[in-house]
Amino acid sequence: MPRPLAEFLAEAGQPEVLRFWEQLSSAEQRLLAGSLEALEPAELRAHCEEAGRARHRHTASRPGRMEPLPPEATGSSTRSPSESLRSWRERGFHAISQNQVAVLLLAGGQGTRLGVPYPKGMYDVGLPSGKTLYQIQAERIGKVQQLAEEKLGKQCTIPWYIMTSEFTLEPTEKFFTQNNYFGLLKSNIIMFEQQMLPAVDFSGKIILEQKGKIAMAPDGNGGLYRALTNNKILEDMDRRGIRFVHVYCVDNILVKMADPVFIGFCVEKGADCGAKVVEKAYPTEPVGVVCRVDGIYQVVEYSEVSQETVEQRNADGQLTFNAGNICNHFFTVEFLKSVTEEFEPQLKLHVAVKKIPHVDEKGNVVKPETPNGIKMEKFVFDVFQFSKKFVVFEVLREDEFSPLKNADKAGSKDTPTSARQALLWQHYRWAVQAGAHFLDQRNNRIPPLNQCQGTEEPPAVCEISPLVSCEGEGLEKYLRDQEFHSPLLLTEKTVAALGQGQ
Ligand code: UTP
Repeated sequence: MPRPLAEFLAEAGQPEVLRFWEQLSSAEQRLLAGSLEALEPAELRAHCEEAGRARHRHTASRPGRMEPLPPEATGSSTRSPSESLRSWRERGFHAISQNQVAVLLLAGGQGTRLGVPYPKGMYDVGLPSGKTLYQIQAERIGKVQQLAEEKLGKQCTIPWYIMTSEFTLEPTEKFFTQNNYFGLLKSNIIMFEQQMLPAVDFSGKIILEQKGKIAMAPDGNGGLYRALTNNKILEDMDRRGIRFVHVYCVDNILVKMADPVFIGFCVEKGADCGAKVVEKAYPTEPVGVVCRVDGIYQVVEYSEVSQETVEQRNADGQLTFNAGNICNHFFTVEFLKSVTEEFEPQLKLHVAVKKIPHVDEKGNVVKPETPNGIKMEKFVFDVFQFSKKFVVFEVLREDEFSPLKNADKAGSKDTPTSARQALLWQHYRWAVQAGAHFLDQRNNRIPPLNQCQGTEEPPAVCEISPLVSCEGEGLEKYLRDQEFHSPLLLTEKTVAALGQGQ
């Protein structure tokens, strides 16, 4: 056994990792040593000790100290005056046209609940077009660039930074190459990898998944900050002149890329950090709530709040703590620098207690029936506390948030079906608002419905390519007073034909 590895593990308090060393092939030995390469022994020791203790950590409920968001820090896509919304949109488009805006995708998760053996971004939720989440996002970026160019008469680029992990980097790269980067320039798509950390058992010992393989997991979406440093991403942003970054999750099918209104709002308010939120669907919905605790902005998890606080309402009947976090954030590059240079080590480690396959003393693989280990994760939103000027922008859930978390099965929420329906409902609403009429099989007009009724399919299937419209804009010229049979698929090609027919 090479001395440095044994010494490294002894120093980290984890010599047992090598207990099957003599039985491993040289390739397995290399892999095992390689998996720990990125870590320092002291850091590994601290991580394991902290994880071992974390299970017993008590999360206090903190009702009295929580305060809702002050109105002056809040904008709203429905409640802010239309004049303000227009001016924020213009401000956002201006920044985009100046090449100052980038989008950053968090795509390092393992997607264990969805349970497919490939990255979530490659998932096709069953839209008529068969588009994957990655393709939808790529096309939205292309469209926003085009709109900014049309508005300001200047070619521009929105670079797309994609944080991956050991699980998602290779297949994501391959998928983008196979699909010719979905029409975007390869040089403007920057993939980088987040760090992996070992899972530990309840006594703080690293879990071996196989004799020569440590159970490793990505360090959470808050691993972003470390990954920005390790991969010199902020230097790349500086080189490109980026000042504002829109960060989002891979699994929200309704995500607005580089949303000009949100960016313009944050920029005009002089914010260094901002969060988009949606109203909670019901008081006990298990989402984090953006609020202040002892005057400091943060996301408070549902589990940390008492029932009484969860149910608390204002005089107008609205829930007091209503700002559901959807993991959609604005950061200035300056703020990201301050986090990576100064605050990152202070980020809280969150504990996930999991069933982790492991080997027994004889080296046989055991699949535990009950949780046996701990994965530690950082969360991307835990940096709000370091912001000097934090703002929040409320948006409508049906316009902007439908995450893909679970596989389709009875009783599951946030599934491929719910994501597909949310998108098709949205496109149906856009088409109806633009003046389209849908016909049934007997050529009778289907009465329009504006609201999603429960979890049903929309009255007619309509999918609009983001290359045609990314927010419902510009559809009247193709759809007004026209009749269509379902399904209607609006692509650049089909709208060209519609345009000619007029
Ligand atoms: P989730 O917390 O929903 O995790 O991630 P997940 O990996 O997608 O799914 P489960 O929990 O294993 O079923 C929210 C977002 O954060 C990203 C995910 O890719 C998703 O966009 N993420 C999560 C990372 O980028 N890195 C991580 O370590 C964890």
